[in-house]
Amino acid sequence: MIRMQQPPALAIVSFHSGAGKTTLLEGIIQFLTKMGYRVCAVKHSAHDEIRDSGKDTWRYREAGATASAFLQPSGYLELCTQCANIHSAIDLASHFKPDIVLCEGFKDSDLPKIAIVESSELRLGMQLQGVVALVLNAAIAPVSGVTCLPFDPPVVAAFIESRFLAPRRKVNLTDRYGRRILGIRMSLTQRCNLNCVYCHHEGEGLSSGEMYTDEVLRILRVARDLGMRRVKFTGGEPLLRRDLGGIIAYSCALGLEDVSVTTNGQLLRERALELYEAGLRRLNLSLPSVESDVYRSITGGDLSNVIEGLEAACRLGIHIKINTVVMKGINDSSIDTIVDFARRHSSQLQLIELENLHLDKGFFEKYHVDLSQTEKKLSGATEAVIERGEMNRRRVYIVKGLPIEIVRPMNNPGFCAGCTRMRITSDGKIKPCLMRDDLLFDLLGGIRSGWTDEQLKDLFMSAVSAREPFYR
Ligand code: 5AD
Repeated sequence: MIRMQQPPALAIVSFHSGAGKTTLLEGIIQFLTKMGYRVCAVKHSAHDEIRDSGKDTWRYREAGATASAFLQPSGYLELCTQCANIHSAIDLASHFKPDIVLCEGFKDSDLPKIAIVESSELRLGMQLQGVVALVLNAAIAPVSGVTCLPFDPPVVAAFIESRFLAPRRKVNLTDRYGRRILGIRMSLTQRCNLNCVYCHHEGEGLSSGEMYTDEVLRILRVARDLGMRRVKFTGGEPLLRRDLGGIIAYSCALGLEDVSVTTNGQLLRERALELYEAGLRRLNLSLPSVESDVYRSITGGDLSNVIEGLEAACRLGIHIKINTVVMKGINDSSIDTIVDFARRHSSQLQLIELENLHLDKGFFEKYHVDLSQTEKKLSGATEAVIERGEMNRRRVYIVKGLPIEIVRPMNNPGFCAGCTRMRITSDGKIKPCLMRDDLLFDLLGGIRSGWTDEQLKDLFMSAVSAREPFYR
């Protein structure tokens, strides 16, 4: 027999019988097939269900075959085998050139294994969707070499893809100006529970409605397949979406390295644990003032909610970066107070120049502060300066142990030259530049008209090639 190169293979196992391996396997196959992979599932013919699924197996076996394969209508191959040695079965499967071989059972084999876990085994009383492999593995994996994943086919399929499958297409995500696209900043909703005077609404116009969860997940996967490494979820207020935990868990399962959220913190106390368990390790907190009356006048909200949320997140070990938009006569004279606050809460601080975008007429001129003086002052007081290589050498000043960044986007070609991400609006459009409303690429429209992944990737690529620095 000619030896074929073996495809990656893994065993889907469970700790108890009747845990639902077959159902999960079918779900995984369905997702991987939809994602364009050719899957082969190997079942041991000692299993009862095989008797139902393939009467012919018995006929072939009587004729001396050790395995029989059925190419299912959806395109995946089911191989029923009696081989005691799973590797012989995989050898057989290799002739069909699958991208991956999934073996149901084969707990005692030397294959990498994925175990499915029931919610009762978690004893954490939370929504299973919001749980990722990391947490599960730390909490309950009783056998080493086994990855435990929630009973959630798209999450398991994404995990398998990120660990075992070569990305479908390798592309160079660099725009015409030599800027590499490392990530996306995705708005999940335009709804917000605050009404901040300075809000630029992420540069979004009127929304034509939010994306459904599966649409969000599809865009994330396509972006990941194209080689993007990071995602930040914004709003409106992203914590207003109930599915945020699931979206974060999925992003982590996709293998995205940097998954974060920008929030106003109003709902953080209630949701910090859930988001942490979903895999969130870092967030940006919008906090224009730490004085409650000033905070209320800027945002319309209650500062104590934010502080309690911040403390809850800190206790869990979520790293927090405070975002403070500086405005003349409103909070520019109390920067020191914010710096002290950030230091006490062991956060990082980002002082942001007001951007002239979606603001009421005259607001920008009245409140805009050029932060060059603030930067000069900081650079005088700094113990160390760190240059962030990937962000066009943006500087981080360490002042009495607190890392502070100054963000100065306005009229700053250096800022645009360092831009490494594209936005996705809450209604599913790619927006390559925050500052432009005339350059949008309708991903969601494509998804809703049945586009393939390849067509969606092409749209991403068109958006990348249309990118140009706003200030140059
Ligand atoms: N200028 C600069 N930054 C802004 N943000 C919101 N509106 C503006 C603006 N007009 C920032 C806030 C918030 C993040 C999502 O965007 O810091 O944390």
